[in-house]
Amino acid sequence: MSLTERIILVSNRGPVQYGRENGERTTNRGAGGLVTALSGLSSQLQDGVWVCAAMSDEDVVVARESPEGLCPPELGHDDLRVRLVALDPAAQDDFYTVIANPLLWFIQHHLYDLKTGPNITRREIEAFESGYAAVNRRFAEVVVEEVNKAGGDATVMLHDYHFYLLPAEVRRQCPDVVLHHFVHIPWPDPDAWRVLPPPMRDALFRGLLGNDVIGFHTEGYARNFLLGCQELLHLPVDLSAMEVVIDGRVVRARWYPISIDPEAFEAMAESPEVLDQERELAARRRDHLLLRVDRTDPSKNIVRGFMAYDLLLQDHPELAERITFLALLQPSRQDVPEYAAYVERIQTIVDDVNRKHGTGDWHPIELHLKDDLDLAVAAYKQFDVLMVNAMFDGMNLVAKESILVNRRDGVLALSENTGAHEELGAFAVTLHPFDIQQQADAIHEALTMPVEERRGRRDACVKVVQQNDVAKWLQMQLADISRAAAE
Ligand code: G6P
Repeated sequence: MSLTERIILVSNRGPVQYGRENGERTTNRGAGGLVTALSGLSSQLQDGVWVCAAMSDEDVVVARESPEGLCPPELGHDDLRVRLVALDPAAQDDFYTVIANPLLWFIQHHLYDLKTGPNITRREIEAFESGYAAVNRRFAEVVVEEVNKAGGDATVMLHDYHFYLLPAEVRRQCPDVVLHHFVHIPWPDPDAWRVLPPPMRDALFRGLLGNDVIGFHTEGYARNFLLGCQELLHLPVDLSAMEVVIDGRVVRARWYPISIDPEAFEAMAESPEVLDQERELAARRRDHLLLRVDRTDPSKNIVRGFMAYDLLLQDHPELAERITFLALLQPSRQDVPEYAAYVERIQTIVDDVNRKHGTGDWHPIELHLKDDLDLAVAAYKQFDVLMVNAMFDGMNLVAKESILVNRRDGVLALSENTGAHEELGAFAVTLHPFDIQQQADAIHEALTMPVEERRGRRDACVKVVQQNDVAKWLQMQLADISRAAAE
């Protein structure tokens, strides 16, 4: 086995999503942290194909027109092919809305209240087989085709919780290919997996163990994975080498904190669209701007964040009319019932807080429920405090993007349960996601911190983000892939 120039990237959501407006095809950037990171990665690949699911109706049309994939000019790389995989709609629905989100996502972010869920019924068992496993098999077929096109000599880089069964399937058909999987979300302790029936959880672990290297954001997640192999599958695990042996093969668990492309992001922060939004924001801002930018995902802990803000306003009446909490929330996974209900809870608490504390033309919370990257970046530049209070979050790239381009000596208020806290926690104000009073007090501390201290903390964060950039994230993985291949 050797590392070749041919890289096959696999992720559920791709770098672009097609639509149709007034009879014309439109192209949008895909959503979420994974796409942000992989877009940086793709600029470093010389010859590659990015395999991803056709998500919109227009994606399906594009997949039919170009079954081998195409190079979208928006990505700016002539030699990066994007290959959209059209799926059976019922299978895709079960895969995404029953198994991947919520089941796997909820387990991995500790979102279940075990008194009430999950309830595994025939519906879930069937969705696992005819949705999750079927989609994984279909993607495996495409990957095997691409490996064969490369003469069997390729490195496959798989991404995230959508494809835990895929590696073992590819391994079965292409025993010598190099398989690397990066898990972008937390990996919980072995007991968290016990909510799944043994055949299901064993299949997920064994599927993932088809890889040569499995990457996580933190050492803790990597260790949890190996402990799961030991306790649930009774496999021999070496926690000092961070390896597990299965069917005579060594599988390595590694950690690489994901990041951003600082130069590209700085350039975007100076684009005319962002500057326009920033001017507008600067003109209407009050003394203090508290900001959050998130998908409307329960793991982001948005409701508790507003509860903390309610307490802050109660405890500090001097802030009245002098502060705005700008919440830029991108609607996410609205076809999953838990996510739709969460948006309703967000709207209710925003109305309550605004009614309780608002005066005249002052709305204590300004809520935007839409995807507006230019506005988000403009707000990154203008915030005084950024709130990231996620219950659990694999990394959280908003923390890295926003502190990099902030122009007001802004302070990060960062949950201790984010991967980002491992790198930036020393320079942030730490938030305890379930302690609402602590969050209110910490936000107050951040708002009233002397400017020199704020500047020192921000400079330190920026240095970390610049040093540990997405190029380093990729290099570390490629180095481990080469090592694994050489062995
Ligand atoms: C997270 C996950 C990604 C996912 C993204 C957006 O960042 O790690 O895999 O793509 O959220 O979620 P969505 O379900 O809209 O793709």
